[in-house]
Amino acid sequence: MLIPAKQKKILSILADGQFHSGSELAEKIAISRSAICKQISKITELGLDICAITGKGYRLEHAIQLLSKSEIEQQVNPVADALIAKLEIHDIIKSTNSYLFELPNKATENGIVCVAEFQEGGKGRRGRTWISPFGSNIYLSILWNFQNGSASINGLSLAVGVAVIQTLKNFGIDDVGLKWPNDILWRGKKLAGILIEVSGEANGPCTAVIGLGLNIYLPKKSAEPITQDWVDLKQIVSENVKIDRNQLIAGLLNQLMPTIANFEDDTLANYLDAWRNYDCMKEKEVDIYIGEQSFTGTVKGIDDNGLLLLTDQQGDVRKFASGEVSFHRP
Ligand code: BTN
Repeated sequence: MLIPAKQKKILSILADGQFHSGSELAEKIAISRSAICKQISKITELGLDICAITGKGYRLEHAIQLLSKSEIEQQVNPVADALIAKLEIHDIIKSTNSYLFELPNKATENGIVCVAEFQEGGKGRRGRTWISPFGSNIYLSILWNFQNGSASINGLSLAVGVAVIQTLKNFGIDDVGLKWPNDILWRGKKLAGILIEVSGEANGPCTAVIGLGLNIYLPKKSAEPITQDWVDLKQIVSENVKIDRNQLIAGLLNQLMPTIANFEDDTLANYLDAWRNYDCMKEKEVDIYIGEQSFTGTVKGIDDNGLLLLTDQQGDVRKFASGEVSFHRP
């Protein structure tokens, strides 16, 4: 869905993070100042912090860069480009994952990529909400069909985590690591999350939607409901470094497309060393929650099938295929 043209135009003017007076906006958009005021209040509903000061006008708390299909396409390399059937950019969407998952032709398509400026109902793992304000972060999903069933892509989420870390490192972001199964952390705080949804057969064709949410700039007001420690790239990089959102999306696609497309042939074994190298949980004391049950122990890494190894308080090694891991606070 597209946002109304007037709002988009106002946003593209305010995107620079500078003050723009009501009369300047009114003149450029060719509407009255009171109509500008109404449009501004609609824009705040998209999760952006707008500062309004009498005599100065309106300013976004932080400059944003709007998504550009052509800028992304220019920076996608030929390998990834050959694997992308279609790149869709949406202003507003319920969820990029749900959109691809609900496509009527999803079982016959490969490489449909959906990116959005704003998600009305962004989904996190375990039924949580993924806060998705406009123009601020990356919300990206990829549709791919696998021939050998959901069992054959068991470790895909680990491989995808590795691809995201490698992209961030290519962009000079250090101190990033993986929290099993695939949270991307920076110095212990959550920077990005991955949600993979699969439908189809355990041993036959199946459809996967691989979704990534990566925080670039999370406006304070939008972030209020988040209960875990989080971080965005704006806090990580020094003030004079500008993160180019379109370039970062292209960089992610350059890593993610071949990782996803080759996963069935490659197997998880090719990613285990890298995953272990980025593991930021090893030897940490944690609780693992599975439904109503919880287990306490020390993390001992992952086995060759990507299962989490935990030494419990009796010294026995337990393996986990799923669960929510929570670090003990020092
Ligand atoms: C997590 O809980 O860590 C996973 C978060 C995944 C969020 C992304 S944003 C793009 C895609 N669309 C969604 O609705 N969710 C994923």
